[in-house]
Amino acid sequence: MNQAIITPIFFGILACWSAISVTAEDRYQFFTWEITKGTIFPLGVPQEGILINGQFPGPTIEAITNDNIVVNVINKLDDKFLITWSGIKQRRTSWQDGVLGTNCPIPPNSNWTYKFQVKDQVGTYTYFPSTKIHKAAGGFGGFNIAQRSTIAIPYPAPDGEFTLLVGDWSKTNHKVLRRLLDVGKSLPFPDALLINGVKDNAVFTGEAGKTYKFRVSNVGMATSINFRIQGHSLKLIEVEGAHTLQETYESLDVHVGQSMTVLVTLDKSIGDYYIVASTRFTNPILTTTATLRYSGSNSKASGLLPVGPTDVEWSIKQARTIRLNLTANAARPNPQGSFHYGTIPVLRVLQLANSKSIVNGKLRYAVNGISHINPSTPLKLADWFNIPGIFDLNTIKDFPSSSKSVKLGTSVLGFTLHDFAEIIFQNDENTIQSWHMDGSSFYVVGFGKGKWTPDVRRTYNLVDGITRYTTQVYPNSWTTILVSLDNKGMWNLRSAIWENRYLGQDLYMRVWNNEQSLYTETNVPLNALFCGKAKHLPKL
Ligand SMILES: *[C@@H]1O[C@H](CO)[C@@H](O)[C@H](O)[C@H]1NC(C)=O
Ligand SMILES: *[C@@H]1O[C@H](CO)[C@@H](O)[C@H](O)[C@H]1NC(C)=O
Repeated sequence: MNQAIITPIFFGILACWSAISVTAEDRYQFFTWEITKGTIFPLGVPQEGILINGQFPGPTIEAITNDNIVVNVINKLDDKFLITWSGIKQRRTSWQDGVLGTNCPIPPNSNWTYKFQVKDQVGTYTYFPSTKIHKAAGGFGGFNIAQRSTIAIPYPAPDGEFTLLVGDWSKTNHKVLRRLLDVGKSLPFPDALLINGVKDNAVFTGEAGKTYKFRVSNVGMATSINFRIQGHSLKLIEVEGAHTLQETYESLDVHVGQSMTVLVTLDKSIGDYYIVASTRFTNPILTTTATLRYSGSNSKASGLLPVGPTDVEWSIKQARTIRLNLTANAARPNPQGSFHYGTIPVLRVLQLANSKSIVNGKLRYAVNGISHINPSTPLKLADWFNIPGIFDLNTIKDFPSSSKSVKLGTSVLGFTLHDFAEIIFQNDENTIQSWHMDGSSFYVVGFGKGKWTPDVRRTYNLVDGITRYTTQVYPNSWTTILVSLDNKGMWNLRSAIWENRYLGQDLYMRVWNNEQSLYTETNVPLNALFCGKAKHLPKL
């Protein structure tokens, strides 16, 4: 072999090698989080909250693209506990996803350290407890990822930024709520909406004439919200890591589990203005306010609250305007549009229909007739160590059957690594759905009313559909996504509506190929907890 041939091969190997070892060169951020229960008063009455280092909501993680995040979670609750990182891709490592299908829950009075990289990601995300109904008591927070300084952003740099966690809230103790679900009842209608853990009390202060980034996430359990600011318009710039066409809105719907980022210019006279969040598609409508304060203001916000939309059509219409800016970059310099998702042949079509029913006298929710039950052995551990009898790939089918019957089961859909799939979410319930996928973002290509049929494919947006991790499905409607399954692992696909998820609208996507290689998936972490049938396995 002569030098001319060796050199490119050599550099090829070097490039692959550095793709793996790049983790070692990027910045590390270490966190120690003590999870405790404590008394909180978000609605003026004392109730049991879940605190992180004494805080409710938990601390905001401020990361930069490619940071390595190390979080030692010390569980001081009297319950097992796990946190999941919503929309954080966990490239090649579903081991860090923090859901029952991938991780043993952290027992009381012990700790577990998550280690992951926010590889090639920017944007606004959240984290929250993934098990039981802990999310109803706290333990959630913002997770923001800023661009590296060398990467351009497709909007003028704002003068400051705020993180707003908006969500429905119940005064009822989370254990009481859980008992209701366990005996087969619904959760009560929430008591209020909170913004950053308080009702009508949060204040965000900026300077007149300046522009601020507002990162808004719906951290609630059940209800979509509409967000607006009195007298100010919202310029949408980013949705769960994708840079949008920068349209200006008077108000925006944010469904459960979703995040979006807007720019707001303080272009009115010095004063206080209402920030408003109200519930969508509910009766009654819950409303909460916060304050946008101009520095130097000495007048309280006054006047009528800006009114929100009321109908579903408005929301569907708005959803269709939220599109990908094809020329903008995201975490990497290449334009977001360079993937041309609309030209990629679909290798797999699935239709996931959600339903509600009574099984053995109890309320259950199902997907394609299967109401998911988490086995006590995490699916990922069962898969990795070939533990039989935990799950199979035939329980849940790719399409709903014509029968309305619902069975309990463990739902795992098998995919081949790099499958390009069309997934149609058919919502046959008369309430709004919100589906979240871990491990991969997806293109949202269509929303429509009634039953999906093949001819609605001609209405798909195959050019500039937004990419995100969580999509709404309107009542008695469908939503279609296209997804490139390039992340090997066991990935949770769940309803973000917590009652539905807790009672069975939860499933896993096993993205797999038969080659065992660190290029496609990392090994089981050295500190992995073992439980269920994996409990007595020797540590690696
Ligand atoms: C628990 O925390 C200690 C440090 O306090 C750390 O050394 C250890 O690795 C943690 N355990 C796990 C399983 O992550
Ligand atoms: C799209 O992104 C480009 C940056 O590549 C930016 O200049 C342009 O204003 C953006 N367009 C819209 C409509 O947001």
